[in-house]
Amino acid sequence: MDKIPVGVLGATGMVGQRFIQLLEDHPWFKLTEVAASEKSAGKTYEETMKGRWRISNEIPEYARKLKVKECKPNLKSMMVFSALDSSVAGEVEEDFAKNGYIVASNSSNHRMDKDVPLLIPEINPQHLEMVKIQKKNRKWKGFIVTNPNCTAIHFNIVLKPLQDNFGLEKVMITSMQALSGAGYPGVASLDILDNVIPYIGGEEEKVEAETRKILGSLKDNEIKNAQFYVSAQCNRVNVNDGHTECVSVKLTKKTDVDEIIKSMKNFNPLRSLNLPSSPKNPIVVMKEENRPQPKLDRNVEKGMASVVGRIRKCSILDYKFVVLGHNTIRGAAGASILNAELMKVKGYLE
Ligand SMILES: NC(=O)c1ccc[n+]([C@@H]2O[C@H](COP(=O)([O-])OP(=O)(O)OC[C@H]3O[C@@H](n4cnc5c(N)ncnc54)[C@H](OP(=O)(O)O)[C@@H]3O)[C@@H](O)[C@H]2O)c1
Repeated sequence: MDKIPVGVLGATGMVGQRFIQLLEDHPWFKLTEVAASEKSAGKTYEETMKGRWRISNEIPEYARKLKVKECKPNLKSMMVFSALDSSVAGEVEEDFAKNGYIVASNSSNHRMDKDVPLLIPEINPQHLEMVKIQKKNRKWKGFIVTNPNCTAIHFNIVLKPLQDNFGLEKVMITSMQALSGAGYPGVASLDILDNVIPYIGGEEEKVEAETRKILGSLKDNEIKNAQFYVSAQCNRVNVNDGHTECVSVKLTKKTDVDEIIKSMKNFNPLRSLNLPSSPKNPIVVMKEENRPQPKLDRNVEKGMASVVGRIRKCSILDYKFVVLGHNTIRGAAGASILNAELMKVKGYLE
């Protein structure tokens, strides 16, 4: 099979670097172009990343000599992953979609647009159909598909089997979010060392709104929000990678802890599609009472799983548990790549 050429917009940032790492030797996609701001453009990726590569020992060999371009819709690859800062992503992504490109975006700008899928392949693959409406509404040749906020994605994956099997009425989530979630250089070291910051601008609103859309249903060419209550509290903590989320839920049907664990372990709706980035188990349930922990568990299933532990009764709502997930892999670049793989098998990249 000929690989599909792809580009990465925002290739120099925290999420962009993950794309470079995860696309190395991808069986279906070949990264041929990287783009970033004017200040990074014009040099090779290796030159522009001197002192800025943050996620592993070395920049993968295949990407070193790629020339960094500006984020203008004159790239040769018609499929682009966007890891752009949200201050510019909105317009740039629209510009690409208008000009016929397929944009898989990590940014929040278009996530809540009515005709843009906020896609998690295990949860709402049918929402992809909205791109047909999007192209029609906007008279675009291309389209935009988004993946959720890095906190929302992990507990939403865990909520899906609960929604399907027992019904959801109320969800409360408190996050402890890693530093890499704020991009580079992110929070100043003197602000976060020995500290927890109980505020991340706009995050709680995003997590609440996105959850209702992700778990909503597609009817009459519209995504109808899920009708349960969600309340989020988001905190920045002194951890490199991996968001930890304490979640309590009120369910419609009565159940017990064993049934909840069973529903999570059995949850694997993508099994038959064999997508290259799909984790064997999207939800990994841990038994140890002091897990999951970011340092130990963020790389389970190569960072593509949502790891759950401490499933127990809650004396206010019904049940509570802890979810952990890698924020720049399944919470960002890995999620986008999985979305693109789903688009490929569903014929959206032809
Ligand atoms: N970090 C996470 O865990 C995470 C998770 C989910 C979603 N996201 C979202 O993903 C996006 C990227 O996040 P990040 O953490 O990787 O941010 P980041 O480290 O700050 O990187 C931002 C990227 O945007 C580029 N950029 C900035 N201004 C630009 C301009 N005017 N024109 C073209 N390119 C420009 C930067 O290029 P230069 O280097 O050339 O400035 C860089 O490549 C954001 O929208 C963020 O909200 C992040």
